[in-house]
Amino acid sequence: MLKFKKLFSPLDIGVAVLQNRFVMGSMHTNLEEIEGGFERAAVYYAERAKTGVGLIITGGISPNIQGCVGPHSAKLSNREEVEKHRLITAAVKEADGKICMQILHSGRYGYHKDVVAPSPIQSPISFFKPHELTDEEVWKTVDDFGQCARLAREAGYDGVEIMGSEGYLINQFLAERTNKRQDD
Ligand SMILES: Cc1cc2nc3c(=O)[nH]c(=O)nc-3n(C[C@H](O)[C@H](O)[C@H](O)COP(=O)(O)O)c2cc1C
Repeated sequence: MLKFKKLFSPLDIGVAVLQNRFVMGSMHTNLEEIEGGFERAAVYYAERAKTGVGLIITGGISPNIQGCVGPHSAKLSNREEVEKHRLITAAVKEADGKICMQILHSGRYGYHKDVVAPSPIQSPISFFKPHELTDEEVWKTVDDFGQCARLAREAGYDGVEIMGSEGYLINQFLAERTNKRQDD
């Protein structure tokens, strides 16, 4: 008798039906940042899809330049970048897999000079003091998340996962230690 029957049964998540309940968690590989990296990432994810995992989540992709983890790390904020992501989604579809893109804004954890945060408090793991987002910039960032999700859909992803933990931007807004703002 098959144990863990539920784990191996399909799951309807509204926008897609997953063939089972296994999820490959988000793990950034840095492939997107190297020459020919999207082609390699496509092969990497397609290999995972072939194992039959129900859902793959990509490594974190930033919604704008300020949110990048490093100076040239992957973001999705324009049409040119959509084309690169299509390589990944096409390869995963070909392998009968489902894939969501993770949107990750690093906030003060970024390793570059354009880092931003709710409050100008430097992270012990970064060399750069973050710029305190203005109210207008906060709303622009919210829009950038939305635009990034729309572009992800255009690129063929089955959905997006929004990274809100592990000390990144959204987490920085939620924690008193990193958010000293008195505004809305
Ligand atoms: C190399 C590497 C890259 C990772 N990149 C991401 C990422 O981009 N986004 C994310 O949410 N978690 C990321 N993680 C965290 C993993 O998704 C996972 O939560 C973490 O490794 C703990 O799970 P484990 O105990 O099974 O390793 C990464 C982990 C590793 C080892």
